[in-house]
Order: sequence, then C-alpha cells, then structure tokens
Amino acid sequence: ADETPSVLPQMGFNNWNSTHCRAEFDEGMIRGVADKFISLGLKDAGYQYVNIDDCWANWQRDKDGHLQPNPKRFPSGITALADYIHERGLKFGLYSSAGTSTCEPLEENRGFPGGLGHEKDDAKTFASWHVDYLKYDNCNNQKVDAHKRYTAMAEALRGSGRHIFFSMCEWGENKPWLWAGKDPVDAGSWRTTGDISDNYASMLKIFKQNVVLDGYAHLGHWNDPDMLEVGNGGMTDVEYRSHFSLWSIMASPLLIGTDLRTVKPDALQILLNKDVIAIDQDPLGVQGKQVRDADGIHVIVKPLKDGGRAVAVFNEADTAKDVMVAATEIGLKTGGSHTVRDLWAHTDAKGDGSIKTKLEPHATVIYRISK
Ligand code: DGJ
Repeated sequence: ADETPSVLPQMGFNNWNSTHCRAEFDEGMIRGVADKFISLGLKDAGYQYVNIDDCWANWQRDKDGHLQPNPKRFPSGITALADYIHERGLKFGLYSSAGTSTCEPLEENRGFPGGLGHEKDDAKTFASWHVDYLKYDNCNNQKVDAHKRYTAMAEALRGSGRHIFFSMCEWGENKPWLWAGKDPVDAGSWRTTGDISDNYASMLKIFKQNVVLDGYAHLGHWNDPDMLEVGNGGMTDVEYRSHFSLWSIMASPLLIGTDLRTVKPDALQILLNKDVIAIDQDPLGVQGKQVRDADGIHVIVKPLKDGGRAVAVFNEADTAKDVMVAATEIGLKTGGSHTVRDLWAHTDAKGDGSIKTKLEPHATVIYRISK
C-alpha cells in the first residue's frame, strides 16, 4: 500500500448525494462501488477514497460507550468493509459530527451518536476499524466553539495511531479557511458552504462562494465546495461539465456523488476526463483565481507546476455569449507562442494564449496553456 498521504485535493466517492439515508445505503452498495472503482477505470484516473456518510451508525453506543454500526446496513461490520476496500488498493472514509448527535434523521429526540466529548474514544475506534478518512459534520454542536470542537477531534485523530485524513464539514459558518488549515487543526479540507443539491442554481451559488477563497487553499489544505452531483440527473451535461471544470480549477476535493453501479456513460466520461483531473491535481497546489466576473462571464486562472496555466471561462447566463480573453488577462505576455489545449474537445492549437469563444448558456471551456 502507499504510505505517504497525498497533499493534493482528495479524490473519491461518497454516497450522500445519491442515497442520503435511504435503505439502499448499505455494505453491499459500498462494496459494489469499490468494485466499480476498478472496473470503470476510476482508480486508474486517481480516485482513491470510498467514503460513507451519515446513517451508518447504530442508534446507541455499545455498553462500553463505543460507536457501533447499524447491524441492518453493515452486518459484516466496518472493519470488514474497510478491508474489502483496502484489498482493492483503495482507502476508506467514515463520517461523524462534532455534536451530540449527527444530522439525520431530522426529527427531534432521535439521532445517531456524535463525537462531541467522545473524541479520543471515537478516534481510537476509527483507527481500530482501519479508517483512513473522517468527514466531521457540524450538527447538534450545542454551540460549543467550533475551533475547540474541531481541534479536539484533530488531536484525537493524530493520537489514534493511524493516519486519518481530516475533512471538516462546518459549512463555512466560522470562516474555517482562516484557521482550519493551520495548527492545531491542520485539516486536509474544510467545507466552505452549505450543502450542494443537484441543480444548476445550487452549483452556481456554491461556486461563487468558494471561488473568492483562493488565497486560503494550499497543498494539503483545501477549500471544499461540497461533493459532486455529476450523474445525478438534475443538471444537463453542459452544466455537469461546468461543475466538474469549476471544481477542478478551484483545486477542490473531487468526491463523486453518484451511484457508480448505475452511472451513465456520459456522466462517467465527465468524471474520467484526465486532462481536467490533472488541473485539479496539479502538484503546484494553487487554487485558481477569478480574474473576471462581469456580465455573467467568469474567467479563472490556475498556475501549473510546469510553468503553464489552466484557464476556465464560464458563462453563468441563460443566453449564449461571445467571449474574448486577452493574453494579458491570463497573465501572459502579448505576442507569445503557446500550445493551447481544449480540455473537453481534447484538441491542441497554437496561439498567443488569448481566447476567443462562443459559450452556450451555463457552459464552461477549460484550456491548458503551455509555458
Ligand atoms: C450535512 C452535510 O453538510 C452533508 O454533506 C451530509 O453529510 C449531511 N449533513 C448528512 O447528514
């Protein structure tokens, strides 16, 4: 197995966007998804984590106060599931909340146990279950200071004897970008917004909230604009390509949120676009910067390790637009000579790096411009 944890944005799957807490979320589903990582080429494309979200736990802790899985959903136990995933060269992620109980179900007086006050014990349980990743939510937090709550779990994970990636899910309420990437929390990523849902308006809103936070992301510590909806059916393929392009140029975690056992070829093709994934995963580790936000057109520029840059041009409007982007706006000298690769068309052209394009409503073009 590989030992050095990656400092690039995490890539993988989480069941939440496709199943929420419905009964289909169980160990059979998650094993099936892990199998698809291999058979569909997702592992080869860089997807690594198979993560499970809320509703995996039993209603009560056991008699010794330890968390336990819901025996209907996970009759074989969490360790068996983690090992199944590890046997395929993948990593396993689990979920909890920095509160007295998690978010689901939404009724009063009933909830799955949360981690608040149980951090050390729960982190040891996670390590004993071979967990590699913890998503730590914000529900039922009893208004305890967020820095305190997330520090407690971060320290407990570090003391657990296992390397466990810490994914903070505090929804941007306490400006986590200002503190979560540093000691003592040192989170791998932190959610910057509320929950995404599978429609264009939601994706657009979250993009706008996250794109202005570029200055706070750095290697090993990423802004998280929530998981992908690609494939879930509520957006067009044009919109899903925008979603995937924008998340990648923002160096976001790429967590697939569609059920991979039934994913359609068009969605899979988006998720497997290696040229776009390479922008997200570029080892320089810089979140793209928005250099234009005017008249419904967004231009985002991301410097790359090889001295080149990625440029995304997104038309948020409901009408088609002709767009020109000057080389200088991208940070290039005028009159230079570059190879410009269109990462959806997969075509190369020579040019000075300036862009002239017609964008359909909600469409994004993304280019890789050579040094
Ligand atoms: C709120 C989080 O933001 C979501 O991503 C998801 O984990 C749900 N809670 C689960 O209850």
